[in-house]
Amino acid sequence: MTALLEVTGLSAGYGGVPVIEEIDLAVAEREIAVILGPNGAGKSTLLKTVFALTSRLEGTVRFNGRDIAGLKTSELVPAGISCVPQTRNVFATLTVAENLDIGTYASPPQDKRALRDRVLSLFPDLAAKLNQPAGELSGGQRQMVAMGRALMSAPKLLLLDEPTAGLSPAYLEKIFDLLLDIRDSGVTILMVEQNARQALHIADTGHVLVSGRNYVSDTGRVLLANDDVRRSFLGGRAA
Ligand SMILES: Nc1ncnc2c1ncn2[C@@H]1O[C@H](COP(=O)(O)OP(=O)(O)O)[C@@H](O)[C@H]1O
Ligand SMILES: [Mg+2]
Repeated sequence: MTALLEVTGLSAGYGGVPVIEEIDLAVAEREIAVILGPNGAGKSTLLKTVFALTSRLEGTVRFNGRDIAGLKTSELVPAGISCVPQTRNVFATLTVAENLDIGTYASPPQDKRALRDRVLSLFPDLAAKLNQPAGELSGGQRQMVAMGRALMSAPKLLLLDEPTAGLSPAYLEKIFDLLLDIRDSGVTILMVEQNARQALHIADTGHVLVSGRNYVSDTGRVLLANDDVRRSFLGGRAA
């Protein structure tokens, strides 16, 4: 099985000081891969480095059979990578439709209308709110707008940083269901998530990061059953 995304020996950080070191990680096509780990472990830095928002110090990043380590973010979007960063950036004063439209700028689709219909079929809640300012929506709905906008570049790989942060349990479940729908629509997902147990239940693979390094990687199922992972990262309770 060839990986859609393959990160090898990746070190990156800020001001030349590494925050993540020698990270190896492979994501197969059409899987959901989740990155777990304590606060400050470097999870966001890893995602940002793949999306060229943080300086890479060492290592390689291959995507879709191509070395992308030197590419800029603006080149990665047309290449098929999209990202929803940790701090939401819906444009509060713009309508839902306008927010979605912005997602097409970096990689204009042939048929914007058809693409929007396809994206909206994943988020029926948004279809009725297209002309409403995004700032008037609930937190969960705003997260859907951010995800919808990321999907408007028709990515092969979607990077998500804590998509359920700050959401109510009901919305949390909804977002996780949506992630499965997005995956089933053919999009590969690499996400950071604090709700580790729920994330591992929907994930094909999980990667635990500690202090900027790989700690353990395995299938979601094996990680849920791993005593050490359970004790240290899942609150100790049985799966
Ligand atoms: N823009 C930045 N400039 C300098 N240091 C940063 C920056 N962003 C994150 N860091 C540092 O990098 C480390 C890892 O942060 P981060 O990748 O956000 O961790 P996580 O997402 O796992 O909580 C932390 O020590 C954090 O303080
Ligand atoms: Mg983070």
